[in-house]
Amino acid sequence: MLSKNGAKYFFLIGTGFFFAIFLGLTYDSLKQVPKQTHEENLTPQVVRGKNLFDKSNCMGCHTILGEGAYYAPELTKVYETKGADWIKNMLTDPEAVYPGARKMRKYKFTEGEKDDLVAFLKWISEIETNGYPAKPVNQ
Ligand code: HEC
Repeated sequence: MLSKNGAKYFFLIGTGFFFAIFLGLTYDSLKQVPKQTHEENLTPQVVRGKNLFDKSNCMGCHTILGEGAYYAPELTKVYETKGADWIKNMLTDPEAVYPGARKMRKYKFTEGEKDDLVAFLKWISEIETNGYPAKPVNQ
């Protein structure tokens, strides 16, 4: 049985040791972020697209990197699967791309704004997400 003092040191040393491990792993994770996100590709156009994405409340319906609402599809890899032109069509007239389907708002973006949004979605699709989102089984 530990004495009162022994228990105190056991607690302090144990807590200190695991807190140090926690800090080390946090530092290591943060160090990986620029590489995994390809920070060097964060152009002003991508930043404009991100601001527009936020301002237009796309996450009110969509998820991106798993965050957002579950009304509409995940957009993390949409650039990879659908491509720039297809996305621009979707941003121009969703009803024409998915007739009679659940409604996506029809925005009045300029061509430049659509390019900014596509640049943002391209940058997002290139983030190394360790396999997220998982591919559907049986496809
Ligand atoms: C009111 C809800 C709503 C908002 C806000 C919204 N969307 Fe959508 N979006 C949808 C729905 C619903 C679909 C799927 C249509 C379907 O499958 O029937 C969709 C589909 C898409 C797709 C095609 C995804 C795929 O895999 O087929 C893209 C790209 C997209 N939206 C981009 C955006 C962007 C960018 C914004 C913000 C500028 C936005 N959406 C805002 C509802 C919304």
